[in-house]
Amino acid sequence: MTEDPALAALASEIRACVKCPLHSTRKNTVPGDGALGSVMVIGEGPGRNEDEQGLPFVGAAGHNLEVLLSEAGLSRGSVFITNAVKCRPPENRRPTRGELDACHPFLRRQIEAVAPRVIVLLGDTALKEFFPESTLGRAHGTSVRRGDLLFFPTYHPASVIYNPSLKEVVRDDFRKLGELVRALA
Ligand code: URA
Repeated sequence: MTEDPALAALASEIRACVKCPLHSTRKNTVPGDGALGSVMVIGEGPGRNEDEQGLPFVGAAGHNLEVLLSEAGLSRGSVFITNAVKCRPPENRRPTRGELDACHPFLRRQIEAVAPRVIVLLGDTALKEFFPESTLGRAHGTSVRRGDLLFFPTYHPASVIYNPSLKEVVRDDFRKLGELVRALA
């Protein structure tokens, strides 16, 4: 679990959160976990395994994410992993605008506490939280600076499960991510 006091306090707040309907169907909140200061990875929302364990990206998409991170020369333990919403949407549906808006302040505060150099946005939901007008087709694989933050959008690791033709595209994006992170070191 997260040792940082600010993140631990935030995780407690998230555990007590009842700001949107997702609280009534969750088993566990999934605040996020990992290392500070380097790379923050933001997915969409917890699935069944994540809801059971209270940890992000522990199912099949998590396995894909770990493989992709290794393409970038990164390990799971060297990045901070979280989601746009911290509770599982029933049947793994996309989070609604209201659910995303209710959770967004937690995400902002996590970004402040983690202070990442790069934020990887996995998939359309995460992308639209920061760039509502953008599309993945246009934005994937290139970094965008906004203030002090460097965003790097790419496809969600689960999209590779449903669309194998994206596999090489996503691998290539993660190799570019590795170059970006090394250039910042
Ligand atoms: N998909 C996500 O977006 N997040 C998870 O934690 C797991 C699967």
